[in-house]
Amino acid sequence: MRSLVMVRHFRAGPAPRQDRHMSLNQYFWANKDRPIRKWAHYLPLYERYFRPFVGRSIVFLEIGCGNGGSSQMFKHYFGPTAKLVSVDIREECKSFGDEQVSVRIGDQGDPAFMQSLVDEFGAPDVVLDDGSHLSPHMIRSFEYLYPRMPRDALYMVEDVHASYWTDFQGGLRTPGAFMERVKETLDELHAHWTRGELPETEIGRMTRGIHVHDSIVVFEKGAFVNRSDQFIPNVEGATRW
Ligand SMILES: C[S@@+](CC[C@H](N)C(=O)[O-])C[C@H]1O[C@@H](n2cnc3c(N)ncnc32)[C@H](O)[C@@H]1O
Repeated sequence: MRSLVMVRHFRAGPAPRQDRHMSLNQYFWANKDRPIRKWAHYLPLYERYFRPFVGRSIVFLEIGCGNGGSSQMFKHYFGPTAKLVSVDIREECKSFGDEQVSVRIGDQGDPAFMQSLVDEFGAPDVVLDDGSHLSPHMIRSFEYLYPRMPRDALYMVEDVHASYWTDFQGGLRTPGAFMERVKETLDELHAHWTRGELPETEIGRMTRGIHVHDSIVVFEKGAFVNRSDQFIPNVEGATRW
């Protein structure tokens, strides 16, 4: 079994230098400001999936403020033109807002709250779900927000290991667990190929890729439109197999 290093930062001191070339990894380990709580192997995955959004005027929605350090890290990472929206059920998280980070208090399991965020800030370009980690919440937020996000958007859910835990309203191969919903989306992505057995779904049609890592699932939006099977017989007598 692989061991994971859980890292917490609870050091006081000034904010890290705003070095535009500092990676998330460097920022995280140098952070002396508000605490950030991440599993160490998430940092390179953020870099891998979030990199195309750096320097753009995106809306980044993080579900789960924690101690407020995470939104500061992503503010630094995405740059000054990104709008960050950080949501939590705890009122005290309001103090984590600033000129670039808007904090809103509400329940990620409440579609009306999710809609209020879309109304106020527009559909997010990137979502990071690090909230309650309860399977019904993860599913509800995903099913509400994902279809409303623009083409080429990215939806990342972390700590999906909680989907295997009954005390987080999940369980191994248990109906209603988040990872069971993820497995369904894999079939939905391939509905076109099931010869009519599985009707195409909105989520299947709007998804370019689904990436599963230890504890992280990423949905990449963007329809896969080119299904033409190409064969170029550039060698005489070549057979199309
Ligand atoms: C793991 S912490 C977030 C850590 C933070 N993202 C970080 O990286 O430092 C989870 C957060 O989700 C919040 N939370 C719990 N249930 C929630 C819900 N139903 N809706 C929104 N936020 C919730 C908790 O209050 C807590 O701050």
